[in-house]
Formats: sequence, C-alpha cells, structure tokens
Amino acid sequence: MPDAFPPSPPRHVAVIMDGNGRWAAARGLPRSAGHKKGVEALRRAVRAARDFGVQYLTIYSFSSENWARPATEVSFLMELLRRFIRQDVADLHREGVKIRVIGRRDGLDPAIAQLLDDAERLTADNDGLNLVVAFNYGSRQELSCAARKLAEAVRAGSLEPAAITPEVLAGCLETTGIPDPDLLIRTGGEQRISNFLLWQLAYTEFVFVPEYWPDFDAAIFARAIADYHGRDRRFGGLKAHSA
Ligand code: FPP
Repeated sequence: MPDAFPPSPPRHVAVIMDGNGRWAAARGLPRSAGHKKGVEALRRAVRAARDFGVQYLTIYSFSSENWARPATEVSFLMELLRRFIRQDVADLHREGVKIRVIGRRDGLDPAIAQLLDDAERLTADNDGLNLVVAFNYGSRQELSCAARKLAEAVRAGSLEPAAITPEVLAGCLETTGIPDPDLLIRTGGEQRISNFLLWQLAYTEFVFVPEYWPDFDAAIFARAIADYHGRDRRFGGLKAHSA
C-alpha cells in the first residue's frame, strides 16, 4: 500500500556541480562547452527543486580555488555568470525565487559584484525557492573570517571567549539565517567536498552521483532525494525506538 503521507522533501539541498570539463572532453569539445551546458543543467535543477518542494538550493558555481585555472577558463566562467544573471534573473524573479550570493565580493570585477548585489536586491522580498549562489566561495576562508570577527570582538571587550558557542560562530558565517543543508549532491563521480560549507555540512547526507553535471536532470535529482529518504538521520543521537 502506498504511504498515506509521502516523506517530506529535504528542506535544503546543496549541489557541487562537477564534471563539466569531462563531459566536454568525452565529446571532443572545449571545456567551455561543458560549462555552457552546465547552465542548462542549472536551470533544470532550479525547476526540479521547486517542483519537489525544496526550499533552499545552494549551488557551488565558483570556488576560491578556481582562480588557479587558466585565465581563459576563469574569464569564461565570469562571463557565464554575467550572462546567467542578465538572462535568467528576471524570469527567476517572476517565479518568486529569492537569490542570495555567498562568497567574497572583493576581488571580483566590480561590474560583476554590482550584478550580484542587484540580483539580491531585486529578489529580496520573494518567498519562493531560495537560490543560494556560492561564487568566489571557500569555506576555510569563510571560517577564518568568522574567527577574525570573533577575535576582534573579544579584543574590543564586547565578547567573552566563554560566550563563543556554535550558534555565535554560525552567526558570523556567510550563511547566517540559512538552515544547514539536509542533502548534498555531488555530480561527476568524485567523493569529496572541496572546501564547500565545511561547518554547515556537519549532519548533511551526502549523495555522490556518477553523471556529469551537464547531464543532470529531474530524474537524477529525484533519485538522489529517494536515496536521502532511505537514510537514517540520527544527528549523533539514537533512533527514536532504541532503548
Ligand atoms: C566543475 O566542473 C564546475 C565548475 C567549476 C563551474 C560550475 C559552473 C557551472 C555549472 C555553470 C553555471 C555557472 C554559473 C556561473 C551560473 P569542472 O570544470 O571541474 O569539471 P571537471 O571536473 O570534469 O574538469
């Protein structure tokens, strides 16, 4: 008999969109072709997240380590972001999507930083899917910045070291106000988290899928959610029925 109450969807899904380069290489295409296809996969992922009732979708679109790639690839990715914002933000806004960007704005081309600010401001009052774009983001950088803020507050005398709790530290992160991810999906077959949300993923369920990001679609997303529903989340405690 089917369940009267289907399991609720993960509230927050974070995604490491990996495999664009390998997708392109497998077809004899330049890496840029994989990134371009990756934008189409991103649109599918946003639609599917909304259809599945996910409330927060966080995407890792450029890491603080991605600057080490060849300059041509870095500028292609910057251009892709610029185009994505210009082409998609109006539609996302109409669909009620609220955009939030995490990652360092300094070091970005000021025109891109401005586009990111504008996208956040335009969609700030929306109450649909929360799309969190991690761009120029690195979790170690985020954590060291939080440590610096706390150290400065202690030095200024406004914070006692003993008052530094997990909640206080979380309040210094870029994800303040965003619930921790329930599910992390990484495409492309690699099984690592690559400096993504190190603090926030403490009790997240990880699903690694072999498909490259440009092939990502609603069916792969649904399978990852089904896998998540099969997990037993205990958050360090015991099952409800265990003595
Ligand atoms: C990882 O694949 C992907 C990236 C570093 C970029 C992700 C970008 C997109 C999916 C396009 C959407 C982006 C924006 C900015 C809207 P990889 O290049 O590391 O692939 P590989 O592991 O096969 O080399």
